[in-house]
Amino acid sequence: MKDTTKKPTRAASRLGGRLIGVASMLLFVSLGFVLGVTSSNAMFIRYYLPFMPPSLRSSAAPSSSSPPPLTTPPTPPSQPPQPPPPQNPQLRSAGFLSPSGVMHNMTDEELYWRASMAPMVRRTPVSRVPKVAFLFLVRGELPLRPLWEKFFAGHEGRYSIYVHAHPSYTGSPPPDSAFYGRYIPSQITKWGDASLVEAERRLLANALLDLGNERFALFSEACIPVYDFPTVYAFLTGSDTSFVDCYENGGSRSRYRPFFATRNITLARWRKGAQWFEMDRALALESVADDSCFPAFRDFCVGRRECLIDEHYLPTLVSLLGWGRRNANRTLTYADWKRPVNRHPHTHGADEVTEERIREIRDEGGRRCFYNGARKGICNLFARKFSPDTLQPLLRLAPKVMGFG
Ligand SMILES: *[C@@H]1O[C@H](CO)[C@@H](O)[C@H](O)[C@H]1NC(C)=O
Ligand SMILES: *[C@@H]1O[C@H](CO)[C@@H](O)[C@H](O)[C@H]1NC(C)=O
Ligand SMILES: *[C@@H]1O[C@H](CO)[C@@H](O)[C@H](O)[C@H]1NC(C)=O
Repeated sequence: MKDTTKKPTRAASRLGGRLIGVASMLLFVSLGFVLGVTSSNAMFIRYYLPFMPPSLRSSAAPSSSSPPPLTTPPTPPSQPPQPPPPQNPQLRSAGFLSPSGVMHNMTDEELYWRASMAPMVRRTPVSRVPKVAFLFLVRGELPLRPLWEKFFAGHEGRYSIYVHAHPSYTGSPPPDSAFYGRYIPSQITKWGDASLVEAERRLLANALLDLGNERFALFSEACIPVYDFPTVYAFLTGSDTSFVDCYENGGSRSRYRPFFATRNITLARWRKGAQWFEMDRALALESVADDSCFPAFRDFCVGRRECLIDEHYLPTLVSLLGWGRRNANRTLTYADWKRPVNRHPHTHGADEVTEERIREIRDEGGRRCFYNGARKGICNLFARKFSPDTLQPLLRLAPKVMGFG
């Protein structure tokens, strides 16, 4: 616990009265919450806040016409029945439990500091349903937005959406869209650049501001879901691991540079992996609180055209944190690496979107993938890359193959 309290205190004196959120922080303290960045050695608490058991199947049963999933869908974690705690309207309206919008005026420094705060009291005095935060890192428009809207339809209260677009983008989805009003304050990003990872951390930090978000998944505009929402939700909220692609091989080691040794990142800790993560709140907190691994990568990238930070930063952080069995070391987002183009996976066009192809992606890996220690997991909940012209064929196939729409 040595320096867990130091960080916020130092930052607090620096920020002084500038931060609007300080008032709500005082409320935190008075409620008995303890501010602090969890250290990687702190006792791990799987869910930072207990929650009401998800009653998915009853309220959101998939339509009877949809075919049964090929693999057994994971069952949500069983919680001992508890009487619902009394609801205090003042606590409810305190804003920090569930912010009403995503816009704010915080700088990145203020945002990360604010987002890194976590209550240490395990039992919360309010009942809540855990949410999955869907983080979209895009240029502007989401060409496949109508597919995602069908995916989310009817499941309000169990997800939250955050979109990081190019700051020059001024468009907006229609007011009846699940994506409406969900564009967060953004900065310019460049592929293969530290600014891209910065944008991922900004998305995570914005989503952490909502204490209801328990799982965090990253997507691009070329990503699609290949299962329906109830399956995805039960899988993610019921999992005892995060899903950050993380591996070590000769190819990844060849990218290691001695510079990293000077920043305490040894070759033994160096990892590689695709950046499309699905992580829990504990790891999301560590990511936004990281003040040594990310700066090392950012400094390394200065003046380099390609520093490959997107493929190495997060896996290496997870390895440095010693996350061990709390990470599944794989992503849940399928990519077709059998036909790569310039070190990017194959992009599916409209003519490739067939029932067989989507079923192939859903079944890929078969029973090879582990889930909560058992060999019956689904390997891929999501897939990339799909070009804008795949929208119509995907909308046509979704009810039959993916179980929604
Ligand atoms: C941000 O600051 C501007 C100018 O001070 C203010 O008009 C606006 O309401 C603020 N936005 C939010 C979300 O606080
Ligand atoms: C590296 O780790 C050592 C031991 O924990 C610490 O004293 C040192 O300050 C660290 N150096 C950097 C650059 O983080
Ligand atoms: C993930 O990899 C680490 C080593 O890097 C290992 O200790 C851990 O057990 C792996 N996780 C699972 C769920 O197998």
